[in-house]
Amino acid sequence: MQRPYVIDELITAKAIAARIEELCREIHSEFRGTDKLIVVGLLRGSFIFIADLVRELDLPVEVDFLEASSYGDGMESSKEVRILKDLRGAIEGRDVLVVEDIVDTGFTLSHVIGLLQSRGPARMKSIALLDKPTRREIAIKADWTGFEIPDEFVVGYGIDYAQRNRNLGFIGSVRFTD
Ligand code: IMP
Repeated sequence: MQRPYVIDELITAKAIAARIEELCREIHSEFRGTDKLIVVGLLRGSFIFIADLVRELDLPVEVDFLEASSYGDGMESSKEVRILKDLRGAIEGRDVLVVEDIVDTGFTLSHVIGLLQSRGPARMKSIALLDKPTRREIAIKADWTGFEIPDEFVVGYGIDYAQRNRNLGFIGSVRFTD
């Protein structure tokens, strides 16, 4: 049984769109001139972020996805990261931008970066829409971060709680009402 909860708006859809524009300007300066960029989205939480991000990028770009296990249906990170779905294509010699929804303990991003680095990309950068620095257990930070947020459980804009609320246009925090 799910506990009853409400969602308090934390980051508006407008603020997310404005921040993505800013981030894309920085990503452009980093990858200007490349014709070998692959944007790798970590499923499932990054699917809306990656869709908005690539449409704001004026670069030739390929898109691929990787799914790593994380929270399951709960609210605690499992710490042991497993790859549930690997990339379709090779990344050796390519420029790679890894797109994560939230960096929380850091286990997922650190594992994925280690794995992809072992495949010999020419250059690899990472971007996370959200960062909860106070929750970190592994010293890792994405190269670009949309917003730093407090230690709250958030949903919306692709991010779920027990698979729900991914379709909200904004980011909200879950507040239990029982
Ligand atoms: P980490 O391995 O602890 O850094 O966790 C990263 C993953 O946990 C993210 O990609 C999310 O899928 C999930 N996660 C972390 N915080 C939240 C949250 O507040 N809401 C929903 N999922 C979260």
